[in-house]
Amino acid sequence: MSEHPKNPARRSLFKILGGATAAGTLGSLLPGCGKEDKPARDTLTFSEIPHGLDHQHHLPPGYQSTVLLSWGDPLHEGETAFQPEELDADGQARRFGYNNDFIAFMPLAAGSSSTQGHRHMQSGNSERGLLCVNHEYTQPHLMFSGYSDDYSATREVSAEHVAIEQAACGHSIVEIKQGAQGWQVVADSPYNRRITATTAMEIIGPAAGDKRLQTQRDPSGTQVLGTLGNCAGGKTPWGTVLIAEEGFGAAFQGDPQKLTDTREIDNHQRFGITAANRNWGDHDRRFDIQVEPNEPNRFGWMVEFDPYNPQSKPRKLTSLGRFEHEGFTLVCKPGQPLVAYGGDDDEHQFVYRYVSQGRYQPEDPAANRQLLTAGTLYAARFADDGSGEWLPLVHGLGPLNTENGFRNQADVMIDARRAAAMLGATPMDRPEDVETNPHNDCTYVMLTKNKQRSDTDSANPRARNTAGHVLEIVPPGENGNRDHSSSHFQWQQFLLGGNPNAENPAERGAYGQQSPYAISAHGWFANPDNVAFDRNGNMWIATDGCERFGFHDGLWAMATEGPLRAAPKHFFGCPQGAEVCGPEFTPDGKTLFVAVQHPADSRNSTYDQPLHRWPDNNPLLPPRPSVLAIYREDKQIVGS
Ligand code: FEO
Ligand code: CA
Ligand code: CA
Ligand code: CA
Repeated sequence: MSEHPKNPARRSLFKILGGATAAGTLGSLLPGCGKEDKPARDTLTFSEIPHGLDHQHHLPPGYQSTVLLSWGDPLHEGETAFQPEELDADGQARRFGYNNDFIAFMPLAAGSSSTQGHRHMQSGNSERGLLCVNHEYTQPHLMFSGYSDDYSATREVSAEHVAIEQAACGHSIVEIKQGAQGWQVVADSPYNRRITATTAMEIIGPAAGDKRLQTQRDPSGTQVLGTLGNCAGGKTPWGTVLIAEEGFGAAFQGDPQKLTDTREIDNHQRFGITAANRNWGDHDRRFDIQVEPNEPNRFGWMVEFDPYNPQSKPRKLTSLGRFEHEGFTLVCKPGQPLVAYGGDDDEHQFVYRYVSQGRYQPEDPAANRQLLTAGTLYAARFADDGSGEWLPLVHGLGPLNTENGFRNQADVMIDARRAAAMLGATPMDRPEDVETNPHNDCTYVMLTKNKQRSDTDSANPRARNTAGHVLEIVPPGENGNRDHSSSHFQWQQFLLGGNPNAENPAERGAYGQQSPYAISAHGWFANPDNVAFDRNGNMWIATDGCERFGFHDGLWAMATEGPLRAAPKHFFGCPQGAEVCGPEFTPDGKTLFVAVQHPADSRNSTYDQPLHRWPDNNPLLPPRPSVLAIYREDKQIVGS
């Protein structure tokens, strides 16, 4: 546990950021991250696309995409093509779900068995694999005829439609392979399966079995049906997939104030459970907190499953805490503890890190499978001087005691938000993806926005932050050998979203500024959400909210090192109403998968009268959330 020496060069940066003009110079650099002075070869040579807003998706010249999977597509042989008017819950449970979000490409190695996930992962096969895709949430007014786009319409959804919604949530595992026509779904694959809001799963870790997880239907507090709000996620080197439970509160209805167990009033209110929420509880009583007051405590976790074993049961990992998880991504170094980073995607919530008790051993997958069940969860405190500290969420440490309502470690994990706040973690501007760039061993935090912010600090320097920003965490040590398990780190702003020419300095974006590499008029963006790193270490940011700035959401790619550090180029644009999620490269970097979520989600747009019908443009089909496979016409590495 070494503490990093103070870096005087960085103080000036924070002086600027701490002042009224948040969009200050981002030129000061921490040792190791962005310090490479030699002119880096520009590995992002694609021709940038313009900002725009229309009913199509957009790619640079020389790139093509195929629509690989859309809502309603069959995942098994012998099923008919999607006919939305014929859809029922059983049919939906055998088809691709709604609002695709996180994507994991899990390679399939020839000759490896289902128990050898690490062998599949090590194969790096980029021609055949399992595409694992989250389905975050449902929108009845865009899925079914007869509903208005008014939120109150979700209070009137029929029992039949609620059952379809539940079957359209969760996750899809689909085998895909490269053929003469490019990527294709393998319809008869034994791996293809759906995980839905009713799939049986196990709860494990420190909160499993606790009385606050027990319900009338499950007195054991260890068996739960389904997963909800599956936003982003992560992958493990032993071949499992982690999926997050984010906005689960919206699925529960009821008045927390009427609960007899007063502890749950505050808890349920923190997750937005109200009597005015959607009406799933009318038709499936466990979603009514007056009937099952503990059911919401069984959601808000990270879920791990094994895509290589279709019979395996997903498990909810209570060791990673309960909040509105965006995702968790791993740093696994041989012989070191496993480290995982994650965000709680809500205003004034926290950045988290988990450190395993055991050590990662590449050739011992059985032992590795235990790493996510025994370890310590921490929340981040970002100090104004550019240092940072990880605060352990451990029962009995500091204020996390009985006096403050934490009976045991289960309480600390169930009420992780309250625990992190009591420890003095820094409330952030909606932390989305948190991911480490393997090329410089630094960790990047996407902070999407926070219009509620009035009090600023160096880590969240803008009041009423509408455009979001990206923060860089630098663990102590040299590149490749940084200690992600240290209790201390250093950090700095990587970029501030928004228009770099905005008149109001508080809304002005700030990007890499090393002339002559200034970004183009289309290089700026807002509301960073998901992030991926390509083979060359470039950062690819997916956005959620740019339409408020007059153009489509999409992808922007940039270097994290060298003269082009934090200088984005615009690569992909969504059809109107959509955000883009996913981004996921095949190991060879030649295919980029993206998830276009909620296309045509715009004012007055409904199933009956949608704004557009992307991607099919077929009058018989509604707009459909879809996964695209993007590739270069000359089959070379995407981006370069
Ligand atoms: Fe579902 Fe955090 O975006
Ligand atoms: Ca989303
Ligand atoms: Ca997201
Ligand atoms: Ca988002």
